[in-house]
Amino acid sequence: MKKVIHHIYEAIGETPMLNLSRITNYYGVSGNIFAKLEYLNPGFSKKDRPALQMIIEAEDKGELLPEQTVIELTSGNTGTGLAMVCQAKGHPFIACMSEGNSPERAKMMKSLGAKVVLVPQAKHSVEGQVSGEDLALVEQVVRRLTKEQNAFRADQFKLDSSYRAHLLHTAVEMWEQTDGQIDCFVDFVGSGGTFEGCAEKFKEYDESIQCYIAEPRNAAVYGRKPLVNSGRHKVQGCGYAMDLPKINRNLIDGLVEISDDEAYEVTRNLARLEGAFVGISSGANVCAAIKLLQGKEKGKNIVLTLNDSGLKYLSSDLF
Ligand SMILES: Cc1ncc(COP(=O)(O)O)c(C=O)c1O
Repeated sequence: MKKVIHHIYEAIGETPMLNLSRITNYYGVSGNIFAKLEYLNPGFSKKDRPALQMIIEAEDKGELLPEQTVIELTSGNTGTGLAMVCQAKGHPFIACMSEGNSPERAKMMKSLGAKVVLVPQAKHSVEGQVSGEDLALVEQVVRRLTKEQNAFRADQFKLDSSYRAHLLHTAVEMWEQTDGQIDCFVDFVGSGGTFEGCAEKFKEYDESIQCYIAEPRNAAVYGRKPLVNSGRHKVQGCGYAMDLPKINRNLIDGLVEISDDEAYEVTRNLARLEGAFVGISSGANVCAAIKLLQGKEKGKNIVLTLNDSGLKYLSSDLF
């Protein structure tokens, strides 16, 4: 039975790559957008990859012992990946999440056996729009619980294993799937793990590959713009308006700003035109690629990830 797997985490990765030709036709741009269907991972997001990598590397180094509790600050997707991997490997898992994230995420983690701790948002925050301030509140809770539970902190913002998942796997798969026909890569950053891992690997393959960061128009911190509306935006899982320790600025060739309305429109068009039912950050990535094809990168091949499933947004105003 060569094709039978024995743990759910063995189903992570090796996702298909889709040429978004209907999207490029609709927007009248020349060039190609190759989208890696990361929402087809078993936890329905690309964050399954860093979740698995963080646990494997910590186990290998002896930093995570058998049956030791794992804890993480999550917008839901890394937590879902960790809940799944920890369940399969016998580690109790605690997910600390801002109340600003969609409730589907908390339900899913609970169903996978995780303990979910919801942290109320900061005073001026808006539901569904998690800010850096909200994350700082969750961080305080995570630190306290890590000590109390003698837990292993699977820190997606700080651990190298988080971005190595994309360096060792996502980028390599993209390169092989496109036979190396890659001119550009664009990514709307959250922890910055996908950008850092993929950009580093792509530059290793070919230094001329242009790597772009996409940011929310209201929170363009890498563009060094002042925050608009306290940096509020609707792209869940990303754009926290804070400096990201994992990102090496030398890898950034350019920046693209995306508004909520633009991200929503392209997300809806991905479902309608391509049959790709994905979340808002996926639409933001594709929107950034369309802008690049309309401008500086006309006629080029752009690669990106479709990050999570649209099913995680059914309670939001997206669909
Ligand atoms: C839906 C979604 N999109 C994008 C990202 C950002 O990815 P990264 O943390 O690799 O920057 C995340 C991160 O959690 C996410 O959940």
